[in-house]
Amino acid sequence: MTKLAFMGAGNMAQAIIGGLIDNGSNPADIWASDPMESQLNELNSRGVNTTTDNLSAASNADVIIISVKPDIVESLAKEIASITSDKLFISVAAGTTTGSLASWLENPAVVRCMPNTPSLVGKGMTGLFASNSVNNEQRQTANTILSAIGETLWFDEESSLDAVTAISGSGPAYFFYVIEVMQLAAEAEGLSLNASRQLVLQTALGAAEMALQSSHSAGELRKKVTSPGGTTAAALTILEERGLETIFADAVSAARKRSEELSDI
Ligand SMILES: NC(=O)c1ccc[n+]([C@@H]2O[C@H](COP(=O)([O-])OP(=O)(O)OC[C@H]3O[C@@H](n4cnc5c(N)ncnc54)[C@H](OP(=O)(O)O)[C@@H]3O)[C@@H](O)[C@H]2O)c1
Repeated sequence: MTKLAFMGAGNMAQAIIGGLIDNGSNPADIWASDPMESQLNELNSRGVNTTTDNLSAASNADVIIISVKPDIVESLAKEIASITSDKLFISVAAGTTTGSLASWLENPAVVRCMPNTPSLVGKGMTGLFASNSVNNEQRQTANTILSAIGETLWFDEESSLDAVTAISGSGPAYFFYVIEVMQLAAEAEGLSLNASRQLVLQTALGAAEMALQSSHSAGELRKKVTSPGGTTAAALTILEERGLETIFADAVSAARKRSEELSDI
């Protein structure tokens, strides 16, 4: 059985570990290290091996998952570089490139991932990129680990992760914003806070589920539910006239550019 060690036991590590255990992984094959003992209590109660010593956790594992904040990655990688031969490294840290990771870790087998916040409820979308030194078996291992928090999608070019960041990484906030303003519009029409919340959230969930299940594109689905001269058409005319498509194109482009600026290349 592949042994895993998580460096940093915060939100993302706990979500992945929880998903792995729910999917049948043996917690005894998982290590987690974190400077805060209290951060480790819940994992420990689920049977995960816990320690405040990164080196000791890493030396027990075949696969090391770097799940600290981006500003800690360099020091952490250098701290564990001495025990890294033949291990696979997976980083979920935003903006840290495989080139930097490989040089700090003194090991070229690195998978870089860009998960998103809905991972914390098992509905994540993760973009992944593997350095050339990662073999197919290791890619499969990385895929299984990240699948514990939702869907995965691999990219051949590392630069694609900037666009991934702009779409699925930052995307939850765009949808939260749309939900927020739709709820405000519902309240402005006289609906209660609770009714607005339920109507908007279930509609968002239903629309996403329907689009996922359908063989039609989102554009086709939109046209199918828009009768000429009807209520939906009245609303969509405003959204089109006010330039929603341009607004989203500009917003995503700004996020992608910011991701490039924040990346360590
Ligand atoms: N959360 C998300 O939705 C999300 C989405 C996409 C990507 N990510 C990426 O996932 C990574 C982790 O994010 P997170 O939300 O899980 O952060 P988090 O909750 O802050 O977890 C990071 C953990 O690492 C610990 N830590 C700090 N220094 C350490 C060290 N030297 N060795 C070992 N552990 C150390 C922190 O302890 P202290 O609290 O004591 O500092 C904290 O418990 C980040 O790089 C982020 O870019 C997160």
